[in-house]
Parts: sequence; structure tokens; C-alpha cells
Amino acid sequence: MAGRLLALFALLGASQVLKAYDYFSPWREQQQMYKLDIGWPKTPEDFTGQTFCVAVDSLHGLIYVGQRGDNVPKVLVFSEEGYFLYSWNDTVEMPHGIFVWNTAIDSSVWITDVGTGKYGHTVKQYSPLGKLMQVLGTPGNAGSSLIPLQFDQPAEIFVEENGDIYVVDGDGGMNNRLIKLSNDYKEIWLTGTNGTGIGQFKIPHSVTLDAFGRVWVADRDNKRIQVFDKVTGEWLGSWSSCFSEDGPYSVRFTADYKYLIVAQLNINRLAILAAPPVGAIGDCVMVHTVQLADETKPHLVDVDMKSGAIYVAEIGAQQVQKFVPLS
Ligand SMILES: *[C@@H]1O[C@H](CO)[C@@H](O)[C@H](O)[C@H]1NC(C)=O
Ligand SMILES: *[C@@H]1O[C@H](CO)[C@@H](O)[C@H](O)[C@H]1NC(C)=O
Repeated sequence: MAGRLLALFALLGASQVLKAYDYFSPWREQQQMYKLDIGWPKTPEDFTGQTFCVAVDSLHGLIYVGQRGDNVPKVLVFSEEGYFLYSWNDTVEMPHGIFVWNTAIDSSVWITDVGTGKYGHTVKQYSPLGKLMQVLGTPGNAGSSLIPLQFDQPAEIFVEENGDIYVVDGDGGMNNRLIKLSNDYKEIWLTGTNGTGIGQFKIPHSVTLDAFGRVWVADRDNKRIQVFDKVTGEWLGSWSSCFSEDGPYSVRFTADYKYLIVAQLNINRLAILAAPPVGAIGDCVMVHTVQLADETKPHLVDVDMKSGAIYVAEIGAQQVQKFVPLS
């Protein structure tokens, strides 16, 4: 038996065996990678609406939550320990995506708003305390133009350290596109139209960057993730084999960029995928899943790039849950 195994190993070649072991062993053993932090937040009754999005400021230990509903504050701010700190209401209608951007001296909070009222169809920048600082798009007007900038239900935003902006537009509506803007809000490139072909989108729902110059987009209704070059916008690849049961709602990397965390709303689960090293993205490999309770509906997630904790905004359960890495 041992002899036969050895022969098999020799046949496969050492590198292939190693690769298969790395990828499949955590999955087969069902080894836990994360544990729910049941003490976060301290007062769950602070969630008073539908919690659509969450963003982590790992530098300052702050967690921003966007929620929707009548007569509820739209943004809630918690400490990473789970204490409710403050909230704000002004100029936010229906938050969809939220992102924290840190510079050496300052931080700001970007929110995409899919409302149809006078603040809708915009991407807005706030100070950490909720002062509106910048509005991108044409408030109250859905559109598809770049001059003047018009969005139709912008789904999510990612801002690089140098201020370059990536917007997926949108969450339904007439646009299915990924736009890169400079830090003075000029178009650098735009890619994507409505469709199922290479580089096309059906509800581009979430966007993030890795450490290797690649832009990752959850192409939700096409049930795939598509990847683009951040400099040129060129299409680099696509993953669909992991999403036959449900499309990807979120894309966020773990702090070490080894894994991609993907929420799948309709099957109430987080999929943890192996992130490929620099270059071609190859095929999708699911290394672990976190099954959530029925009707939790995980929508968007964010990762604390310091502690590694994952925060999950759950529309169905109307809460944000924190998962901390084991090991
Ligand atoms: C936000 O508005 C709602 C309804 O108008 C109100 O009940 C709530 O106290 C407000 N919250 C904040 C933080 O202003
Ligand atoms: C996208 O194309 C499909 C047909 O392939 C159509 O049913 C749908 O309405 C289009 N969506 C938009 C936003 O134009």
C-alpha cells in the first residue's frame, strides 16, 4: 500500500501533491477558521433597521454600519469592542455600500446611496462624525453619463490609498459598469455593459482590490467574480464554478490577502476562497464555508486588516455579526 502511494506521489510530482494538500486539507477536515463573537455588539438593540453594509476603520478601531428604514439613523458607529458610539441621519437615504478611507492625517467614510429621493443615486464622502464633504453623481437623478457624473443605484465603492476610486454601478438600474476615477473625480477608465459575456455585468455588486494590482468585482446576477487590471481596466479572468448555488454578493480580502471572503445571501453563507498569487487567477477554490442561520441574508462584509475579524451585514437578521479568526 505504502509502495503504491509512493508510486502515485512520484507520478503526480511533488509540487502537485503539495498544492492539492494545501488547498483541500482544511476543507476536508472541516477545520474551523472563524468563531462568532457573541459579545459583539454590546447592545444589539442599537440595530433598528435593515443593516445593508459595514466598514471597518482598522486604524482607529471603528465599525460603521449603514442601515435602512423609516425613522432610523442611517449610519451607526461602534467601537471594535462593540460599544455603540454615535449615529447620523443627514443626507443618507438608502445606503447600499460603505467604505472607510484612511490617510496619514485623516479618515473619511464613503457611502453609496441607491435612494430615489433628492440624495439618491450618489456616492458620498463624510467625515468620521458624519459631516458631508463630497457628493459624486447627480443627486436625485439616475443616469449613465460621466459628464456630468451620473450613477444609477451605485452599489459599492473602493478607494485606494492614493485616492483613486473604483465604483460598481449598479445594484439594478440601467448601468452595469465598473468605473475608475482619479482623486479629483475624473474618469480614468470605464468598463462593462449589461450582459453575460466576458467583461459584461449583471448587477456588479461589490468591488475590492488585492495587493497585486487587480480589481475584483462580484458580478452578482451572472454568478461569477470578474477580475480586472487596476491600471488599464483590462479583463484578467473570471470565476464561476464556486457560485452555482448562489451568486457572490461581496468581495473582501483577508488581512494577509490569502483568502477572499464572499457572502452568498440566498444560501446564508460565507464562502472563503483561496486567493491566487500575482498573475493569472486560475480556477476558483473554496477552502471553507461559514454557514449562517436561515433567513440571515448576509449582504456585504468588511475585514479588519489589523485583527483579521470579519464583519457581516445581515439584511434578514437585521444585525451585523463579527467573526474572529481562530489560530
Ligand atoms: C434620525 O432620525 C430619526 C427619525 O427622524 C430619529 O428618530 C433619530 O433620533 C435620528 N437620529 C439621529 C442620530 O439624528
Ligand atoms: C439587460 O439585458 C437583459 C436582456 O439580456 C434585459 O432583460 C435587461 O432589462 C437589461 N438590463 C438593463 C439594465 O438594461
